[in-house]
Amino acid sequence: MDVQSFTAKDLFTCLVEKEDFLLLDVRNDEEFGRFKVEGPYPIDMVNVPYMEFIEHEEESVAKVPKGKKVRVVCAKEGSSKFVAEILINHGFEDVSHMLVGIKAWGNLLAPIRIGGGSDYELHQFRRPGKASCSYGLLCGQEMMVFDPAKNIDTYAALAEQNGATITKTFETHRQADYISGSMALKEKLGAEIVAPNVDFQVATFDFTPAGDETVYRFSRGGPEIKAIHTPGHTPGSTSYLIDNRFIVAGDTVLIHSIGRPDLGGMAKEWSKLLFDTMTHKILKWDPSILALPGHYTDWKEANNAFIFMESLKKIKEINADIYAIEDEDTFYTFIEANMRQQPEEYAKIREINAGLVTVDEENADIMDLGKNECAASQMAK
Ligand SMILES: [Fe+2]
Repeated sequence: MDVQSFTAKDLFTCLVEKEDFLLLDVRNDEEFGRFKVEGPYPIDMVNVPYMEFIEHEEESVAKVPKGKKVRVVCAKEGSSKFVAEILINHGFEDVSHMLVGIKAWGNLLAPIRIGGGSDYELHQFRRPGKASCSYGLLCGQEMMVFDPAKNIDTYAALAEQNGATITKTFETHRQADYISGSMALKEKLGAEIVAPNVDFQVATFDFTPAGDETVYRFSRGGPEIKAIHTPGHTPGSTSYLIDNRFIVAGDTVLIHSIGRPDLGGMAKEWSKLLFDTMTHKILKWDPSILALPGHYTDWKEANNAFIFMESLKKIKEINADIYAIEDEDTFYTFIEANMRQQPEEYAKIREINAGLVTVDEENADIMDLGKNECAASQMAK
């Protein structure tokens, strides 16, 4: 029997459709401990490293429960195929392995239409491997994107399906946890980068500084996009209000918790900025505005359609303990109590996102793999 294969996209579909299967991850303990496949429902998953199948085949096979479809994932495709063949030789009937390997899962973007108006459509690109979200706004023959990941093909495909060209790419801040796709969108598709000057002043590429209260428009009609400075998670953090209805808030407003202000090594100073943003801006915004976060911690934050979008009213209720804090010292005490180390790649990713350092595709994939660590609360651990 031949080993069947599946793609990262197929895996996402199975997880969303709650298919009953066993996920066998054959990466080593360290890789598995660092980053696992996650989905909206609990996953029946076992980790038996590939090397164990080579050294102790019988014992390793015995660790894989029988009776279910088995889907095997590994780092780079080859070992998952090898293990799948072993399982078939031991009588497992429905076994398949993931093409490309775990990096395909890490780079997967799953787009979904989340709203719109008479002349525009807004799409969320969920990135299940990073627990992050980026956005695409279509109007006529133009598309604007917000906080794109480096897998720009998925944005380009949506634009193409709609006969549109990507004209602008907005950055909410200089990301530390993933490599931005904005530079590639500029180089390959000629998109204009709009980004906060404070975060990007060291950048080696040209960009348009996102001015506070500056309004951006499509060339013909469509919704207005208003930049609003919301410093704290980073000193330049900027949110983009679309059509007065949706706010792309980067890591400033999250559905659970609030974006960490301690990632730049200036926790006290940035915490003060974030407290000011919270009290003078977020708490004063229209509570019916729908916040579109840059990250999530858990799939429980998604709605029934698996979309990460929530009204500011509800977000303030969910995070009442944070939004009720009345002074900056108490706010800093909360931040300090939740501080934890950040992954060591973050410093380098920040440099890559300003064009100060370049890495090849393979290293970019390795650095970019793994769940974000951007929420302030410990539950993000
Ligand atoms: Fe961030």
